[in-house]
Amino acid sequence: MLDVKGVKKKHAERFGAEPAVFLAPGRVNLIGEHTDYAGGFVMPAAIDFGTLAAITPRDDGRAVIWSENYQEQVSHQIDGFPKNGGGHWSGYPLGVVKILREAGFAVPPFSLTVQGDVPLGAGLSSSASIEVATALAALHLAKSDPAREQIAKLCQRAENVYVGANVGIMDQFIACAGAENHALLLDCRSLEYRLAPIPNNVSLVIANTMVKHAHAGGEYGIRRSEVEEGTEILRSHRPEIILLRDATTQDLEKWGAEMPDNVLRRCRHIITENLRTVAAADALAAGNMKKLGDLMAAAHASYRDDFEASCEEADIMVEAAQRLPGLIGARLTGGGFGGCTVNLVQADLAVDFARRLHDEYRARTAIDAEIYRSHASAAAHAV
Ligand code: GLA
Repeated sequence: MLDVKGVKKKHAERFGAEPAVFLAPGRVNLIGEHTDYAGGFVMPAAIDFGTLAAITPRDDGRAVIWSENYQEQVSHQIDGFPKNGGGHWSGYPLGVVKILREAGFAVPPFSLTVQGDVPLGAGLSSSASIEVATALAALHLAKSDPAREQIAKLCQRAENVYVGANVGIMDQFIACAGAENHALLLDCRSLEYRLAPIPNNVSLVIANTMVKHAHAGGEYGIRRSEVEEGTEILRSHRPEIILLRDATTQDLEKWGAEMPDNVLRRCRHIITENLRTVAAADALAAGNMKKLGDLMAAAHASYRDDFEASCEEADIMVEAAQRLPGLIGARLTGGGFGGCTVNLVQADLAVDFARRLHDEYRARTAIDAEIYRSHASAAAHAV
């Protein structure tokens, strides 16, 4: 649980000054997976889990960061951070501060306390949430207030170049620009977005398969290179295809045969996922929940069969959900290979749905899943 009072108190005890505190949310993605780095569309919502960052300035030239979660402190000269931050929790906040300073924001020496409750490695963007919370805290000390879009880009850059995870812009963007009770349709190339209200008779039920995933390297990176390989082949025929977002199903029909089968299927997932995501935003805006649910089901099938980014447990979780009363739509959310499924559920049936999903999943996998109910929450802010 996030504990604003507790974090303030602990920071004051440890560092001897009353902090300014900022909160950034995690996210769940309703639809649009692995489309962000292809310049396409995503439709996430911010969730109730998040990260708190409490900050005060220091006068000894150092950046000192205490993690409540890890009960561990790191300390570096403000201009002498390690070259990269992969593999340790501190890489995220250090990367953000380093990138902000390189971009010209005068972040002074500081003490920072971070505390988060986003389940780790569960596909709910704990990384973006610590990045964006740190960014707001550091920018507060730097007395700067850049546009949210710029903050999202700088945080993404920190994760790409400092942490070494080649992720897209979705997670940082939704943490910066989400809105209470809304999903956000984002065009990941132009960064234009529109909000679509989630009706209050619809609940978000997030089901953790308890299978962990990691983004630095691994399957995520392999998928990215497969997508790039396919894009290059299409570009050799139609040079205006800069990102896979520019390609159509007709392009794939014409030239897909030149691709290895796995590459063809990765591209087919992304091209069709972009169409589904825009259609899903329209369905949500029109209150057409049946259509939205069907699109989520199709998205899961495509993620499983063409993109091969699901896992047995996630498929079981989605199948089990599809048989329960109250379900509108279910699919694996986030980077894939484990993590959580997102379920849109009729609000009056959500408690029962969550209990039955838990029991059904345990009966089939012997795994005791955590099931969370959330609402779509606000973007990062001072608390
Ligand atoms: C992770 C990345 C995002 C996005 C998703 C897949 O969450 O951080 O940029 O690529 O995977 O949709």
